[in-house]
Amino acid sequence: MKIHFPEAIPSAPALVLVTPQDGPTTPAVEAVDRATGGQLGRALRAAEFVGRKGATLELLAPPGLDHDRLLLLGLGPPQEADALVFEELGGRIVEVLGTRAAAVAVDLSGLPTPRLALGAAAAHLALGALLRAWRHDRYRTTLKDEDRPRLAELAVAGAARAAEAFAPLDAVARGVFLTRELVTEPANVIFPESFVERVRAAAEPLGLEITVLDEVEMKALGMGCLLGVAQGSVRPPRLLALEWNGTGDSQATPALFVGKGVTFDTGGISIKPASGMEDMKWDMGGAAAVAGAMVALAARRARARVVGVCGLVENMPDGGAQRPGDVVTSFSGKTVEVINTDAEGRLVLADAMAWAQQRWQPDVMVDLATLTGAIIVSLGHEYAGLFTPHDDLAAQLSAAGDATGERVWRQPLGKPGSPYDKLLESAIADMKNVGPREAGSITAAQFLQRFVADGVQWAHLDIAGTVWKTKPGPTHGKGATGFGVRLIDRFVAQTRETAA
Ligand code: BES
Ligand code: MN
Ligand code: ZN
Repeated sequence: MKIHFPEAIPSAPALVLVTPQDGPTTPAVEAVDRATGGQLGRALRAAEFVGRKGATLELLAPPGLDHDRLLLLGLGPPQEADALVFEELGGRIVEVLGTRAAAVAVDLSGLPTPRLALGAAAAHLALGALLRAWRHDRYRTTLKDEDRPRLAELAVAGAARAAEAFAPLDAVARGVFLTRELVTEPANVIFPESFVERVRAAAEPLGLEITVLDEVEMKALGMGCLLGVAQGSVRPPRLLALEWNGTGDSQATPALFVGKGVTFDTGGISIKPASGMEDMKWDMGGAAAVAGAMVALAARRARARVVGVCGLVENMPDGGAQRPGDVVTSFSGKTVEVINTDAEGRLVLADAMAWAQQRWQPDVMVDLATLTGAIIVSLGHEYAGLFTPHDDLAAQLSAAGDATGERVWRQPLGKPGSPYDKLLESAIADMKNVGPREAGSITAAQFLQRFVADGVQWAHLDIAGTVWKTKPGPTHGKGATGFGVRLIDRFVAQTRETAA
């Protein structure tokens, strides 16, 4: 979709106006009312349209206008209209007009936006539309014409400096789209090697530095945890690192993001039930979010040093697969008794995290993983689970989540040796890879905590409930949400970027 911010309203098949709730009408609404000879005002009164948030009113063939459709959108109370509300408006435009109009013009002139500059409001509206319009139609060969998206051009007029506010948001959308694409593609298309190649194609032109480890290199490094998961698959594993340094200082301390990239999770020998197993193609959503976030940061030339690492494996049961009870030695040297081969994400992360911390010496590390079904039981699909011993990091991530709509909710985490941590004690090795059934998301986090280096501020985000939605939301359709990209991007912007 082509997005631009002209000064005057271009001719387009559809015109969109935004009206504040119960407020005085805006100059844009008044001008259109005059042009229609008062028909707009009459329609508004007839529909009892007062501009409630989410309300829409559509007029076809409005008299006196050269637009075929006029769509009014309710803003709700202006003092509550923040960036997310404008993103929702943009999404709504796509929902209502996406298959009906080839081009849409939005007139925001004179709209009161006490929470943000009008240009920023326009930019977030455009971002919402762009995000909501994303689709993956690669494998649909019989899509009916009326179901085909037609909206190819969005013009948002009447707001100064919108284009400069939109540029960094456009970059973030590119990252979100990469993540959604990786998450949506099936596991016969996206596996560790093809994941690396897809990301490389997006990352290299942006100047991201790429490092890839293959299984021979990982074996030499002693990554027994990750390789144990991979050994039941004919698809070889990969460890992918993406580096961005926008500080101009090659010695700057980086922030590190690590993603679980299980390109398909059958459970391995501890095999999952057949029903719903197809969902496990998106068990690489953490790695996809890390890759998308790195693309977003590079695309907007973020003034920070950031490293993103993706642990990529396929968890399959074959004659070579690891067995329940196997003991593996991690990169860190700690040994793990693999009680359940379906608790594979933490094994992959343990080696990816330990290796990346040693190599890049970050001060902050955040991992993202579709780690447990239990987090969906706890939080459903609205919040990701946040686990961290650091209150300041928790506050920063929560703030980034609230600002972007990618919300997180903090969960308990015990110290080493605490009752939760003790649930991982093994009779034969340093730890087991699972605890009992209860507190499953917490024991998963306790496991990861054992691979955090001294002095590193660490947080774990369990995103099993948020990477894939069976219902569309304001800024995404059914399926992949791209969760994590905007959260990471905002967290980096707010905590790592030096002022211009
Ligand atoms: N990838 C799954 C977690 C998951 C489940 C994500 C459902 C999304 C939807 C993970 O590898 C897994 O299998 N976890 C197990 C852990 C258990 C064996 C301790 C789980 O949640 O059942
Ligand atoms: Mn699993
Ligand atoms: Zn998994």
